[in-house]
Amino acid sequence: MSKEPLAINGGTPVRTKPWQESNALGEEEKRAMLRAMESGHLSLFQGAYKPAPPYNFLGGPEVQALEKMAVDMTGAKHVVVVNSATSGLYAAVGALGLGYGDEVIVSPYTMSACAVAPLIYGAIPVFADIEETTGCLDPVSIEKNVTKRTKAIIVVHQFGIPANMNAIMAIAKKHNLKVIEDCAQAWGATIGHQWVGTFGDIGVFSFNVHKTIQCGEGGLCITNDKNLSLRLQMIRNHGEAVVEAAQYAHIENIIGFNYRLTEPLAAVAQEQLKKLKQLNAARIAMVEALHAGVARHRCLVPMHAQPETQATYYVCPMRYFTEHCGGTSRSAFTAMLKAEGIPFVESYVKPLYELPLFKTRTAFTKGYPWTAPENKDSTARYETGICPTAERLYAKEMLLNMHLCHPQTMDDVADIITAIDKVVVACTS
Ligand SMILES: Cc1ncc(COP(=O)(O)O)c(C=O)c1O
Repeated sequence: MSKEPLAINGGTPVRTKPWQESNALGEEEKRAMLRAMESGHLSLFQGAYKPAPPYNFLGGPEVQALEKMAVDMTGAKHVVVVNSATSGLYAAVGALGLGYGDEVIVSPYTMSACAVAPLIYGAIPVFADIEETTGCLDPVSIEKNVTKRTKAIIVVHQFGIPANMNAIMAIAKKHNLKVIEDCAQAWGATIGHQWVGTFGDIGVFSFNVHKTIQCGEGGLCITNDKNLSLRLQMIRNHGEAVVEAAQYAHIENIIGFNYRLTEPLAAVAQEQLKKLKQLNAARIAMVEALHAGVARHRCLVPMHAQPETQATYYVCPMRYFTEHCGGTSRSAFTAMLKAEGIPFVESYVKPLYELPLFKTRTAFTKGYPWTAPENKDSTARYETGICPTAERLYAKEMLLNMHLCHPQTMDDVADIITAIDKVVVACTS
């Protein structure tokens, strides 16, 4: 590899062609949306159990068809479609009956809703550290954080890389903990050919605009437990108004929200599910090509799936080591790549305990739920330093490529590899 002048110093950039946003919406989705609109009903949910056709407590035909399709694809027994993964996470915490006096172990290096979900019901989030290889919760750190108050773990399959569910489920069994799997970024990822989301009590998926498959906003919960699915249905749709219906009469009072997805969006989501396999195959091929392309550089170590698992790489995360790139800082390295036409994102999110919400321990008025009598003995801590791996990835090592997905192709991956080669050679020779 010869040393060429870097674009940041006035050389010719490797690439000037713009990168494209992932967008797999096509004619099929258009037709599906039209079909739903032409039915004359944008939603067929009704917040009461008494029959009032065509309205229904369980939603209309598009929502129910989406649930059926997701049952067939995921292998879970029950699916409850909701209007976002955030709604799904909140509903999961409520369905499992978590609340005041309980602690829930969560990841600090993920989307905020995962750590907020317990707070909505009065439970206290406790942050365990993550594995540097996958970005997912580290079973060793989970176990260290179990107290007599711990009732559940919210595991995130971060970046589409499956978490170590064998070890996590063993800890859950040992301590009698519930497990919610956040699969928002992990559509179709598997462990031993079994979909993530089916190992714990409830799995939660997202159809938001940024995800592998999308309908703008949307989500779904999967579970093998009939009773949990009934509770999820109640929380989705004003459960307090249906507790007297025969089907739900065995369930204690439950307050519901409006987490209902509209019919046109449910129709679009069905078409997206049909495309999932093909979209994932493209992602996986591009990410694996990049992994192979950077293997010769000691400064870049991809985060990746563990044996017997298949990641579906929502993004392509890597760790960057300044000391193996001639002392070039992470920000200088990304600036050089950017000038070559190859954007990488530094860091991902700040560890969640650094948010004012946790620093000030105030989610609701008067410091609730931390100040609630049931929670006052919780030893949950939110100081800097509690999750050193998450902090190191955030502050020093993490780099993300967001473009290894449809409609990009292998030619685009080749540009990324060429630019990385050029920058690393310039920095190390
Ligand atoms: C890991 C994770 N969990 C939950 C969510 C929330 O998803 P939604 O936007 O569907 O509420 C996201 C979305 O960014 C996410 O990445």
